[in-house]
Amino acid sequence: MTSRAEDGGRSELEMSPKQMMASAMRAAELVVKRVQNLPNEPAWRGGSRSQLEPIMREDPPEEGRPSEEVIERAAREILPIASRVDHPRFFAFVPCAPTWPGVLADFMAAGHNIFQGTWLGASGPSMLEVVVIDWFRSWIGYPETAGGLFTSGGSAASLDGFVAAREAAGAPRQPSVYMSDQSHTALSRAATIIGVRPESVRMVATDDRFRLDMDELSRMIRQDRESGLTPIAICGNAGATNTGAIDPLDEMADYCASEKIWFHVDAAYGGFAILTERGSELLKGMERADSIAMDAHKWLFQPFECGCLMVKDIRKLEGAFSVQPEYLQDTQWGRDHPNFGDRGLQLSRSFRALKVWMSVQTFGMGAFRRSIGRGIEFAERAEAYIRKSTILQIANPASLGVVCFRVNPSTAELDDVQLEEINEAVQARVIDEAVAMMSSTRLRGLYSLRLCILNHTTTWEDVRFTLAAIENFGQEAVSS
Ligand SMILES: Cc1ncc(COP(=O)(O)O)c(C=O)c1O
Repeated sequence: MTSRAEDGGRSELEMSPKQMMASAMRAAELVVKRVQNLPNEPAWRGGSRSQLEPIMREDPPEEGRPSEEVIERAAREILPIASRVDHPRFFAFVPCAPTWPGVLADFMAAGHNIFQGTWLGASGPSMLEVVVIDWFRSWIGYPETAGGLFTSGGSAASLDGFVAAREAAGAPRQPSVYMSDQSHTALSRAATIIGVRPESVRMVATDDRFRLDMDELSRMIRQDRESGLTPIAICGNAGATNTGAIDPLDEMADYCASEKIWFHVDAAYGGFAILTERGSELLKGMERADSIAMDAHKWLFQPFECGCLMVKDIRKLEGAFSVQPEYLQDTQWGRDHPNFGDRGLQLSRSFRALKVWMSVQTFGMGAFRRSIGRGIEFAERAEAYIRKSTILQIANPASLGVVCFRVNPSTAELDDVQLEEINEAVQARVIDEAVAMMSSTRLRGLYSLRLCILNHTTTWEDVRFTLAAIENFGQEAVSS
């Protein structure tokens, strides 16, 4: 066998330390420049397939080219053609502005090539995941019996949670799951993946503030039980994507306890508001859930993918997922040494806890609390601004960083069709003229504009500037 020294010490797919350093520095330089330039860039850039094909379509080259050239091409031709979800005026969907230590943590975890599936595979990282999950446990107010795992995101977290719920219910033959008509589709999809028939994923009506209606829930469950279904989970929203609505979590917890049904809370975007005084008041009752999905890649400022599932009795999750094949027999180190691959659907996992840990170590919890608090405050200030405006109208009050509204001047008498056309035109102008990135939704069928203000770099001036532009565009659209 030829030695590495005889081969020049490197495989054909390795670089010299000098090349590694030079390319890493160039990549870092380009990313830092991008982050610095964000406020001067539009919050959204995209392109059609026909525009992008000519730039990117090519056969893979047989011979390589200098790494810096490849990095620069990625940074110039590919990466910028995307939503800038971390732009201070990106208010669409659910924004996220990752902290720099979180970005570096992804790089370092990849550079150390951490396999975070078993304790044997990654003892230090597993210990740290235990520690960070325990931070989350204490933030939620969960007991010592609780535990969890990092996941790719809220969708995977809910899926894992539903598997635990199904097993806790004895894996019935005709399972049903309940959620409000405002719940994220990730939940209905997760329910069908774990074997719930689409017609048994039951959507419960909501009240005037888009919160699940308890009477409707208990009526549905009574009826479904009579017709042979077995409810395995009831889902509450701790920040519904559409409106930021928070379901009556305490009442739901009481009901679930009395009916012996698993209570799952989708806190994917809203959950980390619990770190603020206001958020913990609003989310009271969440700590009574059997499982909670929370995305650190939303309101805890981490790069994608950084979701999490917390389960009140971790044995129920491990009982549902744990498998012990012969080829992994060496990885069984006993109860004190969790194999995170035994808590969810992924065995090969990246080391996501490092992002949260490095960010929190660098900035401290105070900075996170204040940054989350500003999102709640700015949405409430936006609501106050809209209420004072003669051109804008509130569609749903601010809740956990989300506020819904529409252009509807008090002096004009416009029907729903006209309102939709005007608001659509205003939204398009906000994006086309690079004021901000803002998405729309429908509330009870009515077209609505929506701001989701979660970014730690967003200032009140960013919000005010956007609202003022919407007022101007709205005024012009109505007059034209
Ligand atoms: C409330 C809520 N639940 C679930 C999800 C899905 O999470 P993910 O995209 O991380 O899978 C989202 C995403 O925005 C969300 O806002």
